[in-house]
Amino acid sequence: MTQRTKIVQILASKETGAPVLVKGWVRTKRGNKAVSFIALNDGSTINNIQIVADPNLFDEELLKNITTGACISVEGTLVDSPASGQGVEVQAKTIELLGGADNTYPLQKKGHTLEFLREIAHLRPRTNTFGAILRIRHAMAYAIHEYFNKKGFCYWHSPLITASDCEGAGSMFQVTTLDLQNPPKTEDGQINYAEDFFASHTNLTVSGQLEGELGAMALGEIYTFGPTFRAENSNTPRHLAEFWMVEPEMAFYDIKDNMDLAEDSIKYFVKYALDNCADDLAFLEKMYDNELTDRLKFVTENDFIRLPYTEGVEILEKSGKKFEFPVGWGLDLQSEHERYLVEEHFKKPVILTDYPKEIKSFYMKQNDDGKTVRAMDVLFPKIGEIIGGSEREADYDKLYNRMVEMGIPTDSMSWYLDTRRFGSAPHSGFGLGFERLLLFVTGMANIRDVIPFPRTPRNAEF
Ligand code: 4AD
Ligand code: MG
Repeated sequence: MTQRTKIVQILASKETGAPVLVKGWVRTKRGNKAVSFIALNDGSTINNIQIVADPNLFDEELLKNITTGACISVEGTLVDSPASGQGVEVQAKTIELLGGADNTYPLQKKGHTLEFLREIAHLRPRTNTFGAILRIRHAMAYAIHEYFNKKGFCYWHSPLITASDCEGAGSMFQVTTLDLQNPPKTEDGQINYAEDFFASHTNLTVSGQLEGELGAMALGEIYTFGPTFRAENSNTPRHLAEFWMVEPEMAFYDIKDNMDLAEDSIKYFVKYALDNCADDLAFLEKMYDNELTDRLKFVTENDFIRLPYTEGVEILEKSGKKFEFPVGWGLDLQSEHERYLVEEHFKKPVILTDYPKEIKSFYMKQNDDGKTVRAMDVLFPKIGEIIGGSEREADYDKLYNRMVEMGIPTDSMSWYLDTRRFGSAPHSGFGLGFERLLLFVTGMANIRDVIPFPRTPRNAEF
């Protein structure tokens, strides 16, 4: 027998009496002179399989080396388990130690803090918590592709290295091969980017949207799903310097169609987790967040509130609540304001629309009032903003003028303006922060705990 069976399949199997080969990492070993119980996990499920070994059948040295963290391969027979709470266990015939782990293995006992686990991010996937989170992360990525594929969207790859700044926020990581000690200079003493690798000043992308729009204006409906990078120095539980974003972009969609897609897709993703990640969600609910399933169901079962920014600000002003940051028409909303609207006022997810143009990006469709743009942010309980998007300005002149007003270089962005010169069409799109979605679905409180290796200010370890 050479084929190993994954523990998730073994635990679901009713074939007692059958031979099995199982491989995994030892979580615990206990027992006495007459019997050893090894709890083994291979990452395929949150649940362990119990290996039962008769010490008389095995070398004493081998059994001694089967310690927490060690990796073993076990051939044996699947039998009914007399222990409660587990259907089957494996009666071991042969055990091979694939890799030992001495007592310096940092995950000896249970109950480490999340802060400590961040310091050992290379090992934390072996804990129950991170196993659960990372399986859910995979399931959500799969659900995203499934959803858009079913809807006939094309998976589109925007470049990661770019010479433009989508959000115009200027918080970008520069990409260069120039010698930083001794960069080439132009005659007037500036750094000469003509001599850089791409013969221009380049950055890691903050969003795949602008190139995504080019895709939508050819293929109709596209989505990106890839890493994006922001050098903003925000050390919060909701910001990463490297995060993954899902960005659908659709020709012929107006803001209403855009909101419908945002609401429908996010409900689909959350429902996918409820339907497919039950064991992992139950674990996280028990350990970290006893309202998790209720909150997830609540989102799938309720309509989102749709409301103009102006009315949102009025509600905040009338709330009588003391916020840390000021509230007023024209000011951007902070996460405390967003959460007030969602958690305390409406008690439902909220889609806020028609923000003041000054606090939003240059590409958003301008409303007739001359003051607001057709932006939409989806606000979620515990998270605040989970999606940001808009209908796009499809009119060449309006877009051009707004770019000039906001100091966006129109020369180097002529390729973007070309979509409005040749066969322009109403179109819309949005960006869903993948880790924000995972924060919501897993109930975790810190975005550093829903990505294997978080990148944050002053930290690029592993
Ligand atoms: O609101 P943002 O900045 O919008 C855009 O980038 C648009 N170009 C999207 C589009 O219309 N195609 O970012 C979109 C979402 C936010 O709502 C948030 O969920 C997430 O990306 N996000 C972050 N997630 C983690 N860390 C950060 N630093 C994030 N910044 C934004
Ligand atoms: Mg935003």
